[in-house]
Amino acid sequence: MQDRVRLVLIYGSVREGRFCDRVVAWACEQIAQRSEFELSLVDPAAMFRQPGEAPGAGEARHQALQQLLRADAFLIVTPEYNHGYPAALKQFIDEVPASWEARPVGFVSYGGVSGGLRAVEQLRQVLVEMHGMTVRSSVSFANAWEQFDERGRLREPRHANSAMAHLLVQLNWWAQTLRAGRERVVYERVRG
Ligand SMILES: Cc1cc2nc3c(=O)[nH]c(=O)nc-3n(C[C@H](O)[C@H](O)[C@H](O)COP(=O)(O)O)c2cc1C
Repeated sequence: MQDRVRLVLIYGSVREGRFCDRVVAWACEQIAQRSEFELSLVDPAAMFRQPGEAPGAGEARHQALQQLLRADAFLIVTPEYNHGYPAALKQFIDEVPASWEARPVGFVSYGGVSGGLRAVEQLRQVLVEMHGMTVRSSVSFANAWEQFDERGRLREPRHANSAMAHLLVQLNWWAQTLRAGRERVVYERVRG
């Protein structure tokens, strides 16, 4: 039996009172129903050293870094800000080391009418530069605040749950396949 896929979920928003928490909670529930994944969560808000930080406060960050470096696959849960993705997510991708290389990346997005899809398309362009492999299927919540109730439950979960199932099947396939590929042949970063 193959090892489980080490899946790292990354929060796209670092805003106080962010809606992201609800979407992440739903995504975690969906992932927990499958046995293929070993899930960990990484919050960019906690990844940057704060001025005057107490000694030892870096331990959680250290653990998150280990998870990012050992990941087999990534899932980014992102909102859309001004037709793009959040600046904090860009800073995270640019500055925090992660094993994007030859690993699949999936997306769950949310926002207004576009459901965050413009943010996702821009992320695809950035992640290919990191040698990440973005998967086709994604989940998007248009007018997300109307889709979740006060308790954070989806009012009509059927469509989103089914889209998430497709996404997870693809993430698992790519993660297993690329892991086997990396074991057989060293991934080379050819520049040019
Ligand atoms: C600065 C800012 C810009 C936004 N721009 C867009 C936008 O271009 N398209 C969209 O669909 N929603 C936009 N929104 C709405 C957000 O998608 C929505 O508020 C979402 O809940 C934000 O996610 P968060 O609360 O997890 O940070 C914007 C929100 C903010 C705060």
